[in-house]
Amino acid sequence: MNIIDIIIKKAKKGELSKEEIEYFVNGYTKDIIPDYQMSSLLMAILLNGMTNDETVYLTKAMLDSGAKNDLSKIKGVTVDKHSTGGVGDKTTLVLAPLVASCGLVMAKMSGRGLGHTGGTIDKLESIPNMKTSLSPDEFFKQVNEIGLAVIGQTSELVPADKKMYALRDVTGTVDSMPLIASSIISKKLASGSQIIELDVKYGDGAFMKTKEDATKLANLMIYVGKRLNKEIKAVISDMNEPLGYAIGNSLEVIESIDTLKGKGPKDLEDLCLHICAEFLVAAKLYDDYDKAKEYARHQLLSGAALNKFKEFVKYQGGDVRCVDDYSYFKQPLYHYDIKAVKSGTIKIVKALQIGHASMLLGGGRQTKDDVIDMSAGIVLKAKRNDKVNKGDVIATLYSDKKLTKEVEDLVVTAFIYQ
Ligand code: URA
Repeated sequence: MNIIDIIIKKAKKGELSKEEIEYFVNGYTKDIIPDYQMSSLLMAILLNGMTNDETVYLTKAMLDSGAKNDLSKIKGVTVDKHSTGGVGDKTTLVLAPLVASCGLVMAKMSGRGLGHTGGTIDKLESIPNMKTSLSPDEFFKQVNEIGLAVIGQTSELVPADKKMYALRDVTGTVDSMPLIASSIISKKLASGSQIIELDVKYGDGAFMKTKEDATKLANLMIYVGKRLNKEIKAVISDMNEPLGYAIGNSLEVIESIDTLKGKGPKDLEDLCLHICAEFLVAAKLYDDYDKAKEYARHQLLSGAALNKFKEFVKYQGGDVRCVDDYSYFKQPLYHYDIKAVKSGTIKIVKALQIGHASMLLGGGRQTKDDVIDMSAGIVLKAKRNDKVNKGDVIATLYSDKKLTKEVEDLVVTAFIYQ
């Protein structure tokens, strides 16, 4: 077999065989196929797509490129969720303790953020002393004792995706449904949980710009999961505006703690209760979705989920005092209020621009090696349908850097008035 023939076949819209797909995934993972040939093939895939069969073979070849987690030592039903990424998406921080407080187990591996999207691991590291890497023994002990652990992705799982994703990121080949589906599903299958829920975002701040495309991607991932013997569920959620009001690492942890105290934004709370209820039904702890959601709400409002969050922070070495006193988080040097330029009703707060501004304030990475300012970010004071008067504060920015005109303009023009 020859990589050039495979590239030419895909460039001519041909359908690759299982063997051809295994050949290029293995060859690239083992450094036999160089970046320039893989880039060319990825671009041909982006332009000409893949059939459902090709997408299944690609996912399986990527899954088989490395180790798979064995969660069979864990007592209880293991659940996992994956978000396709967005701005202010702190769902895992609320959902993980919530599901654990409902008797399910979340043994989760999460990623770091890049560009305008944040990553759960960076957010967790804004809690002073919080460890995000545990030995396998520590991981299993913690999960068996408290039903919950969240750690960084290890490089043994799906090494093919690690290399391919890094290459896609710099060759303009991220935005392809079969490549996104195989990347996500291979990682979720390798991480070994019994029940998987995907949160597929659409809108300005997401990979998929329309609800139709997000639904198409969700259906493709469900199909690939089924062909590889895994029942996958999906929720389609709006990422035209940031989720909640806080964007930036410690700011998002604080908003998550507020949500666990029953004082969080409605969009975030609703999404977490919905996914939790779906898990409870899929795990057969409830056969009725509404009753499952009522139970999840009870666990949230009774403080059970908050207590689980405290146990989790303590177990992973974090300073649990910050749950009750937010001054234990790193404090930024500056804060700046942004004011409404006119009176009116807010139509939308553009997620992508807000995410970009937060990154420039120091809250995210432009390149893999950038160091994040954990306290940097944005707290919105108004969102869709809110009425504001000219001069009202509509956002507060936090940073160790002086405010630049670029960041100020990004935030001011992110607010679209009706
Ligand atoms: N998230 C992933 O893990 N992979 C993709 O390709 C896109 C989003």
